Amino acid sequence: MESVLGDGAEAVVVARDGDAVKLRKEKRYRHPDIDVRLRSTRTRQEAGILEKLHRLGFPSPELRAMDDRAAEIRMELLCGEKVRDLLDGSCDWNPLAEQLGALVAQLHQNDIIHGDLTTSNMLLIGKRLHLIDFGLGYYSAKAEDKAVDLHLLRRALTSRHPALAEDFFGAAISAYRKARLEQSGPVLERLALVERRGRYQKGS
Ligand SMILES: Nc1ncnc2c1ncn2[C@@H]1O[C@H](COP(=O)(O)OP(=O)(O)O)[C@@H](O)[C@H]1O
Ligand SMILES: [Mg+2]
Repeated sequence: MESVLGDGAEAVVVARDGDAVKLRKEKRYRHPDIDVRLRSTRTRQEAGILEKLHRLGFPSPELRAMDDRAAEIRMELLCGEKVRDLLDGSCDWNPLAEQLGALVAQLHQNDIIHGDLTTSNMLLIGKRLHLIDFGLGYYSAKAEDKAVDLHLLRRALTSRHPALAEDFFGAAISAYRKARLEQSGPVLERLALVERRGRYQKGS
């Protein structure tokens, strides 16, 4: 028995035999050789990050198997509520924002960039927040890359949850700062720059 958990532009995720299986879709607009290479590279990259996160005890799905030629990852099936849906309803969001800030700090501490911090990629299981979808994840020690990760989180919040985006982001950033102490300084300075740049690009 299979049920579809998610079907987006890049991948389809199904529940299969108690696991979650993520299959990266073929992209017909790409040259077939390039497409195969890209999908297998991203599959390996995502699987590698999931393994690393498991070693760190980070709340993310445990990798079960990876087939880079088939562009398929089998991982632990997490049963939780999407933060996107929780924020659409009325919920006590402050603990979520605080946990999120601490989790992103832990990723950045380990030079892991999530790359797609939208509220669809956050699941609450019991009281514990989990992050999924490291499909755009990569390793970097650069403050710039960490700042962009945070900037994309802010943008995702503003577009999906405009009413509470600023307060939620502010609470997450406080927790991030607290968790990373002095290391957060250069990233948050960079964030201010990245956001100024974004405003100029929009022409306002
Ligand atoms: N390990 C998992 N356990 C439970 N649901 C998952 C898991 N991985 C993905 N999903 C579900 O599938 C959706 C799409 O998966 P995701 O990894 O975010 O791929 P995409 O790149 O298409 O966004 C997620 O939003 C989530 O609902
Ligand atoms: Mg996703």
